[in-house]
Amino acid sequence: MPHALTVPGDKSITHRVLMVAALSPGRSKIGGALTALDARSTARVLRQLGAGISPLREGAVVTVKGVSRFSAPRIPLDCGNSGTAARLLLGLLAGHPFGATVTGDRSLRRRPMRRVTDPLAAMGALIAGADSGDRLPLTIQGGNLRPLRYAMPVASAQVKSALLLAGLSGRVPVAVREGVGGTSRDHTERLLAAFGFALPIREGWIDFDPSSGCLEPFSTEIPGDPSSAAFLLAAAMLGRSPRRLRISGVALNPTRTGFLAVIRRMGAVVETEQRGTVLGEPIGDLVLTPGDLQATDIPASEVPGVIDEIPVLAALAARCHGTTTFHQVGELRVKESDRLGLLATNLRGLGVEAVAEGDTLRVTGTRGPLKGLIRTADDHRLAMAFGVLGESPGVDLVVDNPACAGVSFPGFWKALASLEGR
Ligand code: S3P
Repeated sequence: MPHALTVPGDKSITHRVLMVAALSPGRSKIGGALTALDARSTARVLRQLGAGISPLREGAVVTVKGVSRFSAPRIPLDCGNSGTAARLLLGLLAGHPFGATVTGDRSLRRRPMRRVTDPLAAMGALIAGADSGDRLPLTIQGGNLRPLRYAMPVASAQVKSALLLAGLSGRVPVAVREGVGGTSRDHTERLLAAFGFALPIREGWIDFDPSSGCLEPFSTEIPGDPSSAAFLLAAAMLGRSPRRLRISGVALNPTRTGFLAVIRRMGAVVETEQRGTVLGEPIGDLVLTPGDLQATDIPASEVPGVIDEIPVLAALAARCHGTTTFHQVGELRVKESDRLGLLATNLRGLGVEAVAEGDTLRVTGTRGPLKGLIRTADDHRLAMAFGVLGESPGVDLVVDNPACAGVSFPGFWKALASLEGR
């Protein structure tokens, strides 16, 4: 029998479901929502905009009392560490006729925002702030939007979603096309489609007509987060006693499960067992049988589908036979930290051959002893990726801020310990 675990609710889906419920007049009920800090940031700012949201507590169903229009917030909307909260919120605010200030923690205030503020300004939103609208805090005055047809320069679900949500809240049609490099996660499209909105895709353009559907209160159950599952699957591959592992109730949306193809190439056998669909999202179990770790190549076309899994894939690569190359991963420089730079320096600090050159990351695996202190810059995915590597026999490392895993995966360290029978 494989070891059995579950993971907390999907972060991307939780943000979106909370936002859409907040704009669905009436009472919605959300089970399985992520209760981590990022989800709490979204719930907090939505409350400031007039939605009633019960506390996000482990095991509790979240009740959302939605409103048809948001009301002007009295103080700045603090999105904490969450880029998804900030960027999607800017989209929602663009459709509302009042001024609001959006801000975040130190990490979020250094992340680029022009990728959303430029197209939102093209729709008619007035946005002012540091670095000509590229950095938080930003003040946005929305309302009275124009339709938008926009080819995105980068494949980003946050940008795509911000624009679709601007169309929704501003009641104007929006057409978006993803940039070169593939398709980003499509949770917003699936969620809107579940409410009857038409979002046909023609020659790469997603055409959203906000008059084609209507938001109403709903009850749902958020599936487990495949990005959180990735850490535990990797730990089962690397750990002292590599073991079979089943993780049940996980979102199996193909725009999120790209890492399964990568870990299969690295030597794991992974089966997926779909059990149903919720809000247009396929859900099921992942069953992993570890194998010998082999290096692989991650081409640019695969990157949007594994963008959040690259830290843990790099941790696996550090124990693979051969050199793993991640192509076109420059986006990692503007995540919660400079993940590209920190992955390479931390791996080298342990004694692994790792190079971040331009947009490429190369990691040469070793079975030798590794030792060192990991500097995470408070980035949750770096803390967890190195936590996983720390389970590999012969690795002796200390993560400087293990608590930051709570940004996306409360209970991570406990789940990791349970895998090793601790
Ligand atoms: C997310 C999109 C991704 C991802 C982030 C969550 C989302 O960011 O890295 O963790 O929920 O839309 P980009 O869209 O900027 O690639």
